[in-house]
Formats: sequence, structure tokens, C-alpha cells
Amino acid sequence: MKNFLITGISRGLGCEIAREILLNGDAVYGISRTLSDEAKELARDFPERLKLRLYDLSDTDGILKCVFKEFIGLKTPIHGYVNNAAIAYDDIATNMQMPRLENMYKVNVFAPMIMTKYAIRNFILHHAKGSIVHISSISAHTGYKGLSMYASTKGAMEAFSKNIAREWGGKGIRSNAVVAGFMETSMSASLTPEQKSKIFNRTSLKSPTSLKSVAGTVAFLLSESAESITGQNIFVDSGTI
Ligand SMILES: NC(=O)c1ccc[n+]([C@@H]2O[C@H](COP(=O)([O-])OP(=O)(O)OC[C@H]3O[C@@H](n4cnc5c(N)ncnc54)[C@H](OP(=O)(O)O)[C@@H]3O)[C@@H](O)[C@H]2O)c1
Repeated sequence: MKNFLITGISRGLGCEIAREILLNGDAVYGISRTLSDEAKELARDFPERLKLRLYDLSDTDGILKCVFKEFIGLKTPIHGYVNNAAIAYDDIATNMQMPRLENMYKVNVFAPMIMTKYAIRNFILHHAKGSIVHISSISAHTGYKGLSMYASTKGAMEAFSKNIAREWGGKGIRSNAVVAGFMETSMSASLTPEQKSKIFNRTSLKSPTSLKSVAGTVAFLLSESAESITGQNIFVDSGTI
């Protein structure tokens, strides 16, 4: 049985990724700020293998102590880390406000970079060929009005992922990004039907991207079947054009 650390487990894609991993028979260490009904249900279904910790990732200084020492424990090996938690600060660039931009960068960029640091140290300590998966967004590649600030955080993580792959590949550690298309989650709930249909019309499949398809791809990248895949951006985006 392997242990996987997943952020943003309380709802949406994070919850779906956790379910996929738990159904495969592995264990999940999940982090979010709140405990949702979805997460509680998952904990009831998999009481032995799902461990939950409430933590605000914008507190980057507490990650080593609260996540790696107290929650996981330095003696516990982890075999993969999924950087899924993120927030979207949507607005046009001329309305940019520094405190909101800084907070988004803490959650979407600085926290995952620090988590990667300690995940890699854990992999090395336990001689594990760990796999890191960052959830990116198609907005970093295609561009959408109002998403420049959010998309820039995803572009940063894609570059980080590729370079981590290069830096740590010699130890068998892999790093990939899954570039997700528009998914029906709370993150996208504020979009109007017109905005959604515009987005769907930019995809080959004319549809939202399914959580299952993204979660299945993440589970594959974490698995040994993906042992030769690293430094890649894997697009799961309904064929966005
Ligand atoms: N939805 C889309 O269309 C779309 C498209 C492309 C990529 N993505 C990416 O897919 C990933 C999952 O997004 P989603 O759509 O599932 O979003 P979501 O429904 O808003 O879920 C976000 C998750 O992140 C957690 N989170 C947010 N801020 C946090 C913080 N400061 N500390 C700890 N946990 C935090 C939330 O939990 P709490 O609120 O309980 O803390 C929640 O579990 C994100 O990386 C997102 O950028 C989404």
C-alpha cells in the first residue's frame, strides 16, 4: 500500500482524486481548510486509509511542522504528492489588488513549492521513487479574459514542475502537470451559462472536462505504469482549441 499526499481534498477535483486513489487500495493524507460533507462521506467509506488535516496553505511557514512532522510524521513514507488546492482571483489586470494577488500566489505557487521541497526530502529519506503531480489549467495556454493573474500561477507551476523533473530524475523522482480544462466545480460556479457555453465552444468535445477523466489521469501518473513519464504537461481539457 502506498501513501499519497493530496491538497484541496474537501471538494471538487481533490475529492475525486482521493476517491480514485482510495479505490485503488492506497492511502491518502488529505489537506483543506474545511471539512465538507463530501470529505466526511469519503472518510466514512475508507476509515483506515483516509487521513484528513485542516490546514490553510497560505500559512507557508507552518508547512514543515504541521503537515510533514505532525500530520504525516517523518517516519511515514509518502510515494506521491498532488498539488491540487488553488484559488482563482479573477479580474481584469487593470483592477489588480496586491493583497489578493499575494494571497493567491501563496496558495497556488509558494505553498506547492514548499510542499514539493519536503515531499522530495521524504522520498529521499525513504528511498521512494516518488511522483509529483501539479494540477494546472488550460487558461495558462489559451488565455481567457479575466484570468491573467490566475493563469500566471499555473504557468509558474508548470515551469517549476519541468525543472524539478530535470533536477530529481536521477533519483527516480518524477514531476508532471495535468492541464485541466473547464470543470464543473465550485471554482467555476460563478460563471454565467453564456460564459460557460463560450468556453465549451472552444473545446473539440463541446463539453466540460470531467472530474473523473482528470482524476484518472492523476492516478495513472502516480502509478508505476507511468514510470517513464516525467517533465510533461498532460492535457485533459476536452480538446480545447
Ligand atoms: N474548475 C475548473 O474549471 C478548473 C480548471 C482548470 C484547473 N483547475 C484546477 O483544479 C484544481 C482543483 O480545483 P477545483 O475546481 O476542484 O476547485 P474548488 O472546487 O474550488 O476546490 C479547491 C480546493 O482547494 C482547497 N483550498 C483552497 N484554498 C486553500 C487553502 N488556502 N488551504 C488549503 N486548501 C485550500 C479547498 O478547500 P477549503 O476551501 O476547504 O480549504 C478545496 O478543497 C485547482 O488547482 C484549480 O486551479 C480547475
